[in-house]
Amino acid sequence: MLAGNWKMHLTIGESIALARAVVEGTTGVTGGDVIVAPVFTALASVAGVLEGSQVAVAAQNVFYEDKGAYTGEVAPAMLRDAGCTYTLIGHSERRKYFHETDGTVNARIKKALSAGLKPIVCVGETEEEREKGVTEFVIGQQVKVGLYGIDSLEHVTVAYEPVWAIGTGKNATPAQAQEVHVFIRRLLGGVYGGAAADSVRLLYGGSVTSENIGRLIGMEDIDGALIGGASLKSESFIGIIKTVSGG
Ligand code: 13P
Repeated sequence: MLAGNWKMHLTIGESIALARAVVEGTTGVTGGDVIVAPVFTALASVAGVLEGSQVAVAAQNVFYEDKGAYTGEVAPAMLRDAGCTYTLIGHSERRKYFHETDGTVNARIKKALSAGLKPIVCVGETEEEREKGVTEFVIGQQVKVGLYGIDSLEHVTVAYEPVWAIGTGKNATPAQAQEVHVFIRRLLGGVYGGAAADSVRLLYGGSVTSENIGRLIGMEDIDGALIGGASLKSESFIGIIKTVSGG
């Protein structure tokens, strides 16, 4: 799975153009899921462009209620209505700037799943937490609380995005990423059983480029990537997709 998180970039027109370029550049590429996550205002237009293609649409966030007096929020069914199949939940930028917690992440995941929207749950430690040696504790909390009460991982993807690697040009080494992915998979195995943990897709995110994706994806427990900056240009995103698909 390769997911491009466009964050707060691109107008509707620019999003449509990029979505078209991604479809053209990946025609004939098979064997995995390609996803783009535009801003809310561009979701429906991008979904229209991608209809019938193998590229799916994700929202960057979702609220945990169906409807009501929640100014500024968007419900899962509304995102489905706009053409989304997936939604990011708990991105570190949401946690940092909008005070989202593992508890609200959990509520969002539950509500998304109940509406048929597949969550891509983001977890990751800060630089300070890594330096203090508490990476596994932090990730463990995020995964356990985030997924608390969720019976099945069938529609769940987890993205490990070390905060210090996001937008910094300093990606985790393949070995560092693999180490945390193994930790997450073991943790999930303890709750959901080995078979479910083996089949859940674990993405790495943080300064992924067409240059470093090959080594990252070569690691046994890295099943894809969540890509920020390099997904905003069709050449680099398509380069990443082609490297992974061997095309
Ligand atoms: P960058 O690829 O720009 O580091 O962003 C990663 C990210 O946050 C994707 O969600």
